[in-house]
Amino acid sequence: MTNALRGTMLALALAGAAAFGWTTSSTSVHAQESGTAAAFNPADLMPEIPALEAWRNSPHADLSKEAFRHWDEEEDKLIPEECSKCHSTTGYLEYLGADGSEPGVVTKQEIDPEHAPGIACMACHNTVAQNMTSIIFPSGDEAEVFTSDIRCMTCHGGRASTVQVNDKMVELGNPETDSVAADLAFINIHYRPAAATRFGGEARGGYEYDGKDYAGYYFHDRDSQTCNDCHSPHSLEVKVESCTDCHDEVDAANAETMRLVRSSKADYDANGDTSEGIHAEIAALHGQLFEAISSYADTVLGQPVIFRSTNYPYFFNDTNGNGEADDDEIAFPNRYQSWSPRLLKAAYNYNFISKDPGGYTHNPYYQLQLAYDSIADLAEGGSGVEVTGERPDE
Ligand code: HEC
Ligand code: HEC
Ligand code: HEC
Ligand code: HEC
Ligand code: HEC
Repeated sequence: MTNALRGTMLALALAGAAAFGWTTSSTSVHAQESGTAAAFNPADLMPEIPALEAWRNSPHADLSKEAFRHWDEEEDKLIPEECSKCHSTTGYLEYLGADGSEPGVVTKQEIDPEHAPGIACMACHNTVAQNMTSIIFPSGDEAEVFTSDIRCMTCHGGRASTVQVNDKMVELGNPETDSVAADLAFINIHYRPAAATRFGGEARGGYEYDGKDYAGYYFHDRDSQTCNDCHSPHSLEVKVESCTDCHDEVDAANAETMRLVRSSKADYDANGDTSEGIHAEIAALHGQLFEAISSYADTVLGQPVIFRSTNYPYFFNDTNGNGEADDDEIAFPNRYQSWSPRLLKAAYNYNFISKDPGGYTHNPYYQLQLAYDSIADLAEGGSGVEVTGERPDE
């Protein structure tokens, strides 16, 4: 074992101890008995633990968040099988088989802040996670990945895809495209599916329309490719400074300026401006897609719809017909239930784009293509909102 490796392993063991609340009291008792207690402070022997502070202040360690507290009200207070691989360290270790269990099989997990604090060091720093070479997305598509950020991709790969949407239509006997299918419920990609966006058409995390080609993995640049090239794997923050090596638009002191980056020359939203950030092109098409969704729901299905990205299942009935998402309309019993197949596919893509706010960097062309194709499809169904700009063809 090299010294560097030994050092890292010691640090990890100590970080584990710190994170798990273990103490080193036996050492101090020993020291007192030996009569040198006054001069000896075991804390002096503790090397600084790399990454600990950054991790502690990150969302992965923020146990107050809904992502870790969602099950507090359940009777058994357990995180169910279908959620635990991404919402607990023990569940992820079980999914990987890093705890000696069969890989891929996940059971209910305790919400146990003391023993499994959020997404802890050992979720990512164990030999199974460190030696993984492929990832399977919800579509069943498998990607080979030989970089250390493969550890992020299971949890940030989303929970649905083109395949789940198409399978649902088959299961319901292929309901008519423009009629409300009573048994059709919203299908949800889930939160922050950055890896699904990065892999684009290779993961099919968006709803991909028949006969269209989609951008695959967005390579970006050799030095700005892995999750941890751009994000600290511990604080999770974007390293804004790193962008300035290649993009003049970015000011390291102002994260907002990342949204000004632009290299492509086509006018995707047809507003005549090809120098605005690619973020603005996506935002414009995303906005146009909602107009199309709203107009189609109104005029073709006769049931107005509203959207709020933070409240499951995101689409609700616009009961007062004012076109706004009002607080009293945002309630599960008022969820939108008048889906036609065409509307559901477009709404799936609208939500997919909303759920990845880094999409403009993770894979801008995939997001643009999904928005563009959804607008075009709704127009065919009579939304009255036509596509105007150019479809990215890469
Ligand atoms: C494939 C991984 C994955 C699975 C499986 C998964 N989640 Fe999540 N979930 C995530 C990620 C990643 C986030 C982080 C969202 C963020 O940072 O805002 C999240 C966030 C959440 C949140 C917090 C949303 C908020 O308002 O901040 C809730 C609630 C949630 N998930 C519920 C569930 C439930 C319930 C299940 C099981 C039915 C589940 N998740 C299964 C990955 C997953
Ligand atoms: C979400 C995944 C994840 C978690 C949680 C995590 N790490 Fe890391 N860590 C990584 C990745 C990815 C790297 C960089 C790639 C590698 O391992 O070679 C890394 C690198 C490191 C390194 C090498 C030096 C460096 O900073 O690049 C140390 C030491 C380390 N982590 C310690 C910790 C400790 C201690 C904790 C808990 C307090 C922790 N990590 C939690 C993913 C994680
Ligand atoms: C075991 C599952 C898991 C792994 C592995 C994982 N994450 Fe997360 N990630 C989550 C969950 C759950 C949250 C939400 C935490 C919260 O809301 O506080 C999250 C939150 C985040 C956020 C903050 C999002 C926000 O809404 O502010 C970022 C950024 C992130 N993760 C990046 C990464 C990166 C980069 C890696 C790999 C180094 C990684 N994650 C590995 C589950 C995971
Ligand atoms: C080329 C740089 C780059 C790469 C590679 C990258 N990201 Fe991002 N990521 C960003 C940027 C930029 C943002 C958006 C920051 C903003 O505008 O607020 C972002 C946003 C996110 C968010 C949402 C954070 C939030 O505050 O809501 C998550 C989660 C995330 N990335 C995870 C990942 C994961 C996981 C990977 C690898 C599969 C990855 N990212 C790869 C640059 C990158
Ligand atoms: C090592 C150089 C390099 C670094 C560092 C880098 N980029 Fe890039 N970026 C590129 C190149 C080259 C392209 C053009 C890629 C292409 O068109 O295929 C690009 C394209 C982009 C695009 C798409 C623009 C468009 O109009 O198509 C965005 C957005 C972007 N980068 C954001 C970022 C952000 C944010 C960071 C920092 C977190 C970053 N980049 C770091 C080299 C880099």
